[in-house]
Amino acid sequence: MKLSVVLLCALVAVQAALLAAPSAEASGLKVGYYNKKCKGVEAVVKGHIIRAMKKNPRVGAALVRLVFHDCFVRGCDGSVLLDKSAQNPHPEKEAPANIGLAAFDILEMIKADIEKKCPGVVSCSDILVYAARDATKILSKGHINYVVPAGRLDGMVSSASEAQAELPDSTFTAQQLIDNFARKNFDVEELVILSGAHSIGMAHCSSFKGRLTAPADQITPAYRNLLNDKCGQRSNPRVVNNVRDEDYNTVSKYMPGFKSRVRKIRDLFDNSYYHNNLARIVSFNSDWVLMTHKEARGHVHEYADNATLWNDDFGESMIKLSKLSMPAGSKGGIRKKCSIVSHPLH
Ligand code: HEM
Ligand SMILES: *[C@@H]1O[C@H](CO)[C@@H](O)[C@H](O)[C@H]1NC(C)=O
Repeated sequence: MKLSVVLLCALVAVQAALLAAPSAEASGLKVGYYNKKCKGVEAVVKGHIIRAMKKNPRVGAALVRLVFHDCFVRGCDGSVLLDKSAQNPHPEKEAPANIGLAAFDILEMIKADIEKKCPGVVSCSDILVYAARDATKILSKGHINYVVPAGRLDGMVSSASEAQAELPDSTFTAQQLIDNFARKNFDVEELVILSGAHSIGMAHCSSFKGRLTAPADQITPAYRNLLNDKCGQRSNPRVVNNVRDEDYNTVSKYMPGFKSRVRKIRDLFDNSYYHNNLARIVSFNSDWVLMTHKEARGHVHEYADNATLWNDDFGESMIKLSKLSMPAGSKGGIRKKCSIVSHPLH
């Protein structure tokens, strides 16, 4: 008897927690969503991100990629944050397309801190969206500064095969990239704008294998030699996405004409990706192929020519990305920990 009462209470609690997700159109997201519900939460996230990026500058790029990989798969629902469990042996994290994802520990730490302040109120998906926004602002020295709405729920589902099917691959052709983005209602221009995120961060050599032997009209031979050197040093090491972040000696050796562009501060988030792309010094096939498509190529020129325009448009596209919502009818809730589905009956 006592047990069944407990069970009943648990069931009611689950029903209350599992609100139906709003549809893509009526997202119900609001700027300042937590103003009353958990005052100061955006400042808490920001404080953590500033500290984390001081300790480990790699965190910023990881967060920018993570929000893309969360939002393109089942909407921005924190599904990418879930660990494998007995109930779910193959979460999104295991998808090959998710190689190298990081910053999960930072998000878990922020979540724990916020749970102390406002238990059961702030979703992990919102924390990720805020964190990526803050990282973007810091890495761009304040030039990319956008306001994102919140009010997302965390999803219950995370599937490696779904992530693999939804995320673009670095070997895609221009048309495959365009089709992939179109499924999420992003056009060619937005594909080009968001690809500019590859001005920061790193990639495993396995992510651009084909480029190591690609012909000179697809990749500048000097840059190809540089990549081959870096990739030959260990087994599948990581190399910086932007040659301007490469160490000075390596650039001097392979691309002496580029020496003056080596940056003192790594991961500066700017439009240099477009200049690199015009000069055929980008690592992924998916970056280079934008130059093979007339409209996309036009946008590469446009954003190379106007840094301010890219800063503004990138912010806009990140807001749009951050509004992608869960498939209609999906169950959502507020997790207790970002890596585990909060489900009292399990
Ligand atoms: C257009 C299709 C895209 C493809 C095919 C693609 C592919 C990749 C690949 C293969 C990596 C390297 C992963 C590794 O080897 O460790 C990477 C890194 C990265 N991507 Fe993309 N990406 C795309 C679009 C985007 C978008 C839209 C964003 C964000 C707005 C983004 C942000 C990043 C960042 C910041 C990194 C570096 C991550 C780090 O250093 O930890 N990418 N991408
Ligand atoms: C660059 O873009 C900004 C922002 O949209 C715009 O105000 C400015 O006029 C553009 N500059 C040029 C030279 O086209």
